[in-house]
Formats: sequence, C-alpha cells, structure tokens
Amino acid sequence: MADPNETATSGGAAAQLRARRDLAVAAAVRQGLLDDAYPLTALLDLRTVRETVHALHDAFAGLGAPSRPPLHTFAVKAGSLVPVLRLLNDLGMGAEVASPGELALARAAGVAADRTVLDSPAKTTAELSEALRLGIAINVDNPQELARLDASVATRPPRAPVGLRINPQLGAGSIDAMSTATATSKFGVALQDPGARNWVLRAYAERPWLTALHCHVGSQGMPLDRMAAGVATIVELAEEINDAAVAAGGRPQVDTLDIGGGLPVNFASDEVTPAYRDFADLLGERAPEAFGGQYRIVTEFGRSVLAKAGVVLARVEYTKDAGGRRIVVTHAGAQVATRTVFAPDSWPLRVAAYDGDGAPLTAAPLRQDIAGPCCFAGDLVARDREMPELRPGDHAALLDTGAYYASNPFGYNSLLRPAVHGFTVGPGGAVEFTPLRRAQTVAELVAESGG
Ligand SMILES: Cc1ncc(COP(=O)(O)O)c(C=O)c1O
Repeated sequence: MADPNETATSGGAAAQLRARRDLAVAAAVRQGLLDDAYPLTALLDLRTVRETVHALHDAFAGLGAPSRPPLHTFAVKAGSLVPVLRLLNDLGMGAEVASPGELALARAAGVAADRTVLDSPAKTTAELSEALRLGIAINVDNPQELARLDASVATRPPRAPVGLRINPQLGAGSIDAMSTATATSKFGVALQDPGARNWVLRAYAERPWLTALHCHVGSQGMPLDRMAAGVATIVELAEEINDAAVAAGGRPQVDTLDIGGGLPVNFASDEVTPAYRDFADLLGERAPEAFGGQYRIVTEFGRSVLAKAGVVLARVEYTKDAGGRRIVVTHAGAQVATRTVFAPDSWPLRVAAYDGDGAPLTAAPLRQDIAGPCCFAGDLVARDREMPELRPGDHAALLDTGAYYASNPFGYNSLLRPAVHGFTVGPGGAVEFTPLRRAQTVAELVAESGG
C-alpha cells in the first residue's frame, strides 16, 4: 500500500489519497461511525483539503498586483459547514457567499468581511445594506440591483470592491444547468446584447465607486479555454473603463478582477486534473494583462477545493434480483447525492466497494444497480455498474463527494442528515476523526418539521 502521508507527484498523490481513504473507511467501520440508527456517514480527508488549498495558492502566487496578493474565496455553497469554512479560513481562503445563510456561516467561521464576496442574483435591499455596513465586496448582478445600490451608496460609500457581474455570453459547457454564460443566462449583465457594453461603460463613468469586474462562466463541465475567454472578456472591459477614466483626467478605476470559480473536477479517477496550475498558466497566455500587476485577482473556487477529499459511506442493507438485474439497496441516495440521482448523465460518481469490516472488496465483478433508500424508482447512484459484488453488511462508498454532496442534503423521505467527519491519518496509519457536523437526531427532525 502507498504511504498515505508521503508527499509525491500526481500519480503518487492519487495512490496516497486512495490509501488514506481505505484506512479511513476501515476505521469508520471499526469505530462504529455507521450503525442501525445512522447507516450512512460522510468523511473528509483534511490533508487533501490542505494540499489542495496550498496548490491553489501556489498556482496563482505572484500574479496580479504585488502589493495585493490574490484573494481566493471559497464558494460556501460547495461545502457549507462552519468547521470546514474555519479550516479554509485558517488556510488563507476567504468566502464567496450567495445568501444571508451563507454569509452567517462564513461569519460564524471567522471569515473577515474584507475577505468575503457577496454574489447571488436576488439580493434584497436589506442584504445590500448589510454588505455595505460590514464592508463586504459585492458583485452586482443587474441594472435594477445597481439602482438600489445607488440609493444606499449615497449614505454609505463602499469600503470594499463593488463591481458588475458580466455575462460574456460564450455559450454552454457540457452541463446546461451549470452553464452561466449562455446567451440567455439569468446571471449578470449580458455583455453582447445590443447597447449593453455602452451601458456598462456609462455605469462605470458615472460611478467612481465601481472598482471591480466579475465573471463566472460556469461550474463543472466548462472547458478551461472557455473559462479563460470569460476572464479575457472582463480584462478587456476593465482596460476600456480604465482608459476612459484616465482620458477623463482620473485614475484607472477598475483595480479588482473577480474571475469566479468553476474549475472542473475529474470524477473518473483519483487524479487531480485539470490542476489549478493548468488554469493559471492558461490565463497567463489568454489574459496576460490580468496579471500585469494592475489588478487584484479574486477567485471563487468551490468544487475543486473539496471534491476529491470527500467520501459518502453507506451500508448495504439488502440485495435482490429483478428482471435479470442485481440491485443493491444502500443508505446513500438522493438525500446526499441529489444531482447524481436526478441528472445521472451529468453527475456520474465512482462507487467503491468495501466489505463488512471496511476492507476493499475483491469479489468478482458483477453488473449492479446501486440504489438509495428513497421511495422513488430513480433513486440510484449508479446503474448497471460493473464492480465487485456487494452483499448485505458490505459498504458502498461514493467517491469525490467532498463538495455539494453531504453538505447539501435533500430532505426527501425525512431521512436524517448524516454526520460529516473530518479525518487525518497519523504516521503509523492511525486514523483520527474530527466532527464537522453531527448527524441530525430524530427529535431535531421532528422539531424542524413543525413538531
Ligand atoms: C458566482 C459563483 N462563483 C463560484 C461558484 C463555485 O463554482 P465551483 O464550485 O464550480 O468552483 C459558483 C457556483 O455555482 C457561482 O455561482
């Protein structure tokens, strides 16, 4: 087995990730993290999280204004647990929030206002005022929101960067629902629509307090060169705004470029590809002005920060055959893998098989449907998947589920929200778990449901 803690090359890193995962699954089973009351749990490899955040910082180090190093905010929606946000904050990340709840979580984790960015296409007047009061950066979605801000800014000038979210209208990636830069996307100012560019230029000329530009062209399924083209679009716009400001006798107005998140995650193997460095290098080629020293770079990565670190682990309750198909009924379904269940082609997951003691299963492969506990027929996390034969008491592990899975549960069938445990592996292979979220109790469920 690979040494789970050795620092190594990418291939080695994948083997170590797998080795740590196997140790954590065995320890979780041995330590009774799954039982009849809670036959489902989630694990997060804290070492992988740390290494990923370091890789992000390294990839962008030295880019942008030397006096204002890049600010990497974490998209809270991807992992909305306070201890996770606290860890990321300790590792130097800020927070991208898109609702009052996400802002509250980021604040509870100690993320400073000047390291927080507010997105969302539906900000209320109260949210905008609160952001101005706290000194949080705001990405303004549309002209009506800008008009609301005009009123608030008159009495409280922004202390943090405020800018427009631009939709460069570059087209969809492979997942329509995650493509935010289509011609008719609900996000941002559609830059290629007739008159839009002039409206943006006028908006900045009339409001010297607009000092940032933002784009986020999509999340998963977006080719890197499309993401880079989105950044190039806002850089070009920033240069145009700044040239106009200088020509009018002022200073370059836009000094912050928020380039969003969206680095795709490889759900097909343990390899991290693409890497942050691939994207940073591409940006250096496609949008070199962004890194010339004039702009502060802000990023908003979510999925790529946590996905590889996470496992959802479920006990196999029953197996059966129907119409010639083996069906494995586990406790992980739509309540923790909502996107995979409802849009399986867009969100395929690897499922690893472990035995009743949590050891990797080596049984002969068999084609199986891996089903969840929810009461609808489509509650399957994998269909007709060839993998070692699972039996009652074994375990199914949904891999790469550190972001947008257990942390974003779906309340169907009133299934209890599972616990989320962080883990580290000591030098001798000993696994230590840290609670990141307690499992929901039946009493809490009843109370939350009006009981
Ligand atoms: C504005 C914005 N920024 C960042 C993100 C995070 O994207 P990802 O998790 O793919 O990095 C999202 C995701 O929906 C988003 O809408």
